[in-house]
Amino acid sequence: MKGIILCGGKGTRLRPITYTTPKQLIPIANKPLIVYTIELLLNCGIKEIGIVVNKDNKLIFEKTLDKHFTEDFQYIIQDNPKGIAHGLLFAKDFIKDEKFIMVLGDNLFQFNLKKFIVDFLTNKSNCKILLKEVENPEKFGVAYIGNNKLINLEEKPKTAFSNLAITGIYAFDNNIFKASREIKPSSRGEYEITDAIKWLLHNGYSIDYEILKGNWRDIGGPRDVVEENVYRLSAMEEDIKGEVVNSHVSGKIILEEGGVIYNSIVRGPIVVGEKSIIKYSYIGPYTSIGKGVNIDKSNIENSIILNDCVISGVEGPIDYSIIGEGSIVTNEKGLRKVNRLVVGKNSKVYLSNL
Ligand code: DAU
Repeated sequence: MKGIILCGGKGTRLRPITYTTPKQLIPIANKPLIVYTIELLLNCGIKEIGIVVNKDNKLIFEKTLDKHFTEDFQYIIQDNPKGIAHGLLFAKDFIKDEKFIMVLGDNLFQFNLKKFIVDFLTNKSNCKILLKEVENPEKFGVAYIGNNKLINLEEKPKTAFSNLAITGIYAFDNNIFKASREIKPSSRGEYEITDAIKWLLHNGYSIDYEILKGNWRDIGGPRDVVEENVYRLSAMEEDIKGEVVNSHVSGKIILEEGGVIYNSIVRGPIVVGEKSIIKYSYIGPYTSIGKGVNIDKSNIENSIILNDCVISGVEGPIDYSIIGEGSIVTNEKGLRKVNRLVVGKNSKVYLSNL
């Protein structure tokens, strides 16, 4: 069986980070988001994986994934992205006539995909979707079930009369290509995968569903990234390859080679990437620090600091934050109490007067 992962689209809610890093490559517990999905597919024996990307992003995906995997992936370019069903059509030559799994590249799961695949193949249905009970179904595609059968689907309805969201993992046979060609763009101007599945349903094809009990997150905005980071860090094993000097360390710590924690208080779970230095600081739980980061006399918790940042003299806690690659955050000590900012397009700065 083949797998495709959809990574086109724009990721506007995560700007400015997504100006330089596509959403699916944002590190969570120091590992790009898409790596978790590729591992999920590989663990089920799906080795032939196609990744649908925008033309400009092909190189960055290739370079990033080469660092994490020895397998070769097929990069499929989606020209002028117009929706998930539109992106899927570009993968037709790669899939040919086989049954396949499609995963949305910004979704993360804790889930038994093997069983999902076996059930799909055994039941010989044309499509299988994975649903999850949620409190805010209007943000997603929604499924309506009656008598244990799927009776309708709707993409982001104004009012949802079901709390079952359609998650971003699907099993298809090749009728989905026909369906994706039949549908019209939605009110948001996109060829919706939900509409393509609805077309299958209303044209006599069989659709199975499973209701997910495990964890699922659609990474839309910064809050989702920080919360997924908490979840992934909780599941990691301690591993100290770097040096801890004159510091008080508790909880699980992952400290990569060349990393140094010096005269600091550190409470895990945290991960510190290669050659990062933490000194005279407090680093609290659920913090991921990338490579080559320098933290001095600062206080950080529950945050993601990407590669090559410098954070110095920030005594008031940095909390619930994502700091983009190469950023500098310092505390200026002058005669007047001022905030001096050099901030790029779409940055978000939340100042506190405490
Ligand atoms: O996360 C689950 C939801 O994902 C489902 O409940 C919805 O039914 C489904 O339509 C989708 O909704 P989103 O609005 O969250 O989709 P988004 O635009 O975020 O795109 C999801 C992934 O697909 C993301 O990795 C980018 C990729 N994509 C998106 C578009 C619009 C493409 O590859 N090409 C595209 O043209």
